[in-house]
Amino acid sequence: MIEKKQVFKPNKEFAKVANIKNMCEYYELQESAMEDYEGFWGDAAKEKIDWIEPFTDVLDESKAPFVKWFGGGKLNVAQQCIDRHLETRKNKAAIIFEGDRGDIQTITYLDLYKHVNRFANLLKEDFDVKRGDRVIIYMPMIPEAAYAMLACARIGAIHSIVFGGFSSEALRDRIEDAEAKVVITADGAYRKERPYMLKPVVDEALEGKTPVKKVLVVERNNEDVAWVAGRDYSYNELIKDKSSVCEAEVMDAEDPLFLLYTSGSTGKPKGVQHNSAGYILWAQMTMEWVFDVKENDTYWCTADIGWITGHTYIVYGPLAMGATTVMFEGVITFPDAGRPWAMVEDHRVNQFYTAPTAIRVLHKMGEDEPAKYDLSSLKVLGTVGEPIDPPAWKWYHEEVGGGRCPIVDTYWQTETGGHMVSPLPGATPIKPGCATLPLPGIMAEVLDPATGEKSEVGETGYMCVTRPWPAQIRNVWGDEERYITSYYSDVKKDGRAVYFTGDGAMYDEDGYITITGRTDDVINVSGHRMGTAEVEAAIKKHSNVAEVAVVGKPHPLKGEGIFAYIVLKEDEGLADEVEEVRTINNIIKKEIGNIALCDDMVFVSGLPKTRSGKIMRRILRIIAKGEVVTQDISTLEDPSIVATIASKVQSCS
Ligand code: WTA
Repeated sequence: MIEKKQVFKPNKEFAKVANIKNMCEYYELQESAMEDYEGFWGDAAKEKIDWIEPFTDVLDESKAPFVKWFGGGKLNVAQQCIDRHLETRKNKAAIIFEGDRGDIQTITYLDLYKHVNRFANLLKEDFDVKRGDRVIIYMPMIPEAAYAMLACARIGAIHSIVFGGFSSEALRDRIEDAEAKVVITADGAYRKERPYMLKPVVDEALEGKTPVKKVLVVERNNEDVAWVAGRDYSYNELIKDKSSVCEAEVMDAEDPLFLLYTSGSTGKPKGVQHNSAGYILWAQMTMEWVFDVKENDTYWCTADIGWITGHTYIVYGPLAMGATTVMFEGVITFPDAGRPWAMVEDHRVNQFYTAPTAIRVLHKMGEDEPAKYDLSSLKVLGTVGEPIDPPAWKWYHEEVGGGRCPIVDTYWQTETGGHMVSPLPGATPIKPGCATLPLPGIMAEVLDPATGEKSEVGETGYMCVTRPWPAQIRNVWGDEERYITSYYSDVKKDGRAVYFTGDGAMYDEDGYITITGRTDDVINVSGHRMGTAEVEAAIKKHSNVAEVAVVGKPHPLKGEGIFAYIVLKEDEGLADEVEEVRTINNIIKKEIGNIALCDDMVFVSGLPKTRSGKIMRRILRIIAKGEVVTQDISTLEDPSIVATIASKVQSCS
């Protein structure tokens, strides 16, 4: 076992040519940002972005926590990602796509330019999509998904991607909240060499009243799908006669680029709004710093574009810096757990970025697989989404990275747009399981919520960001109040509300930050954020459910699993319960999708509540773990319920 204290210094050869070469450079950058915050960001924005018109103002905090960056500046994010590279990189691979069945497409920057422009023309001409319109993208991992994102950016439409694993109800909620007029989807795609379908889910989501006027269907697996005349159109047909030139819309720095719905501790998912200039600037800067991607490198992030990691680190970040990004349609354990390593060998991947949950699965299913492939191209390994546990870290470091590749444990969120706390591969001495230090320019601090002071070493505090940063969430779509209450109402520093991530964290003696996990009712299942409130709301749709409380429970592969305590209205005994589990699972599938299925469902006679009726989830979490409740429960309305629940859970496990 690797001890937490073990430190891995950067490789000297790597550091020599890295973008940030040592800790002196890191501290210089961070100090320059502290001394002149606007100067730091203003210089970065001038250097990195191809402005159509330069900005006149760096940061406007007059309406904080609503902030504006690079006021007066005009740009187009699709141009930043494509057009500006054409002079020097037109024949360079922008996207290397590998399909589930091993089919490969290499899309150069010039190809990408043409595909995106045709797509943009299609949306304008045939779908009447205008600047500011919302477009839902419900797509598999195929190049057309990236074209769709960039086509929206080119014409100033706001895209909102819904992960392909979400159900029709979840899709409907997002369509309605965003008031989208167009859905871009595919008939389906391939998974484990078999076709799976998306279009039928869209059909269901659009039943009844809907703001959606038209649906664009990319034909990928060519399976039969229902077709609604006047609403559904074939991309493959319409794209044929479109011009490959499309003038880019001149966008303001603060025009919205996309919405991405994510779970919070209460209510329905929030539409996290990201705006143009600040987001793309930080996507590009973090690609360059954290992955240290060089001109001839091939970079692969295994996320799905339905999550923020896919947005920033498959599409926007790599393309903004002119890199080659791998996009993979399939499942990383198919046909076997050697698939990713075969792909690393095949494409000579230099940077590989994935989630700890994937590493745990690959480790478990194919411990010896990495040794069968030539992984010598790898230079940097990354993780995201949850803390990485020591056995997974060790295997990743030794077997995948050959002991020579730094592992960047990147801490960030949908709301932060890009990395916040992460090692720099050529500079930061790494400690396994630790996200290390805030990136230059990011004023991330662990604060004591009671005082707003920095937490003491070894004390858990709140992970906060005390200054606005360019890639930060700008608003919860259509709900300014929720933006403030969700992020700016828990912690004050020097009397000023600061951004609170929802995570707990701790400093060590070197000032390194370790993330200790969510402090709220959000759970992290296989690196995916899930609000317990959402799962509860779905379960409550069942007419025989009186009450429900959902908590997270440690899970060996997923990180956290979902544990539901359910009080039925009528409980006829065990046979009935088996049937109810099936019914409730079906409801969850329909309301949210398979990703929210419960790992444990226990039927109990009541829930532990305070006299004011608040459910004591803390106690439920302890029981779910199989631990003994030692807390004072005398303030509960019915303290005896704790023992009843605990014995029921024990009998079920
Ligand atoms: C968690 C994913 C520990 C955290 C990019 C955060 C992490 C939530 C790490 C955001 C990490 C993300 N170490 N925990 N390196 N990265 N998290 O919005 O709880 O899907 O708040 O964004 O994942 O999840 P989201």
